[in-house]
Amino acid sequence: MRKPVIGGNWKMYKDPSGTTAFFESFRPLIEHSGRCETVICPSFLDLETAVAATRGTRIKIGAQNLYWAKEGAFTGEVSGPMIKASGCSHVIVGHSERRRYFGETDESVLKKTVAALDAGLIPIVCVGEREKENAETVLMEQFRYGIGALSDGQFASIVIAYEPVWAIGAGETATPVTAADAHRLIRALARDSFGAEAANNVRILYGGSVKPESAKGLMAQPEIDGFLIGGASLDPVSFASIVNLEL
Ligand code: PGA
Repeated sequence: MRKPVIGGNWKMYKDPSGTTAFFESFRPLIEHSGRCETVICPSFLDLETAVAATRGTRIKIGAQNLYWAKEGAFTGEVSGPMIKASGCSHVIVGHSERRRYFGETDESVLKKTVAALDAGLIPIVCVGEREKENAETVLMEQFRYGIGALSDGQFASIVIAYEPVWAIGAGETATPVTAADAHRLIRALARDSFGAEAANNVRILYGGSVKPESAKGLMAQPEIDGFLIGGASLDPVSFASIVNLEL
């Protein structure tokens, strides 16, 4: 049984006081949820506040990006060991907004994924097509160059997020069937590269306009092991209602 992961990607929203306010409301709302792992990924500047606000709870904190060098003259960058030292357990790698606006490629995604693992972080590696029609080709390519080169041991420690770019922030969610088809394809690619057991164990999250209303239908698909949620993770009540979904 794969334990679901419900991730919140706050993108460039909230400051430390907004972060504190979020967790004050959110913590009691999810007190009784035990089914899934909950990971919230605020901006770098809010990580320490988020870690402090969730100490002693089962809520985990992740960063949204990292650089692959451990340290050095890389102005403006943040490394895996720095993120780990701030108390994070996860980091998002290769989000489509990073690929689109900041020039990330499958090659940089691979380097960042390895750097995250070396730092003891769990990378949430994002893949997804821009155009609906290209899903298969793009997913095969992103998997092959961004994930396929990992070792078996490295692959066993990652989480994959399938995020069709046309659905992100667009209000248009992939239907449960479309999302499950893409997840099946990713799992088949994982099987080819890493074997049946590894493919069966890897958690594949869906992301792209997940809202409390659409989450239940998506989660009912056995292929979908949780979500990476942008907009709906900013509000403690809507995010908690997804975390608390009955399976
Ligand atoms: P969204 O973002 O839920 O606002 O579509 C998802 C994501 O980009 O991770």
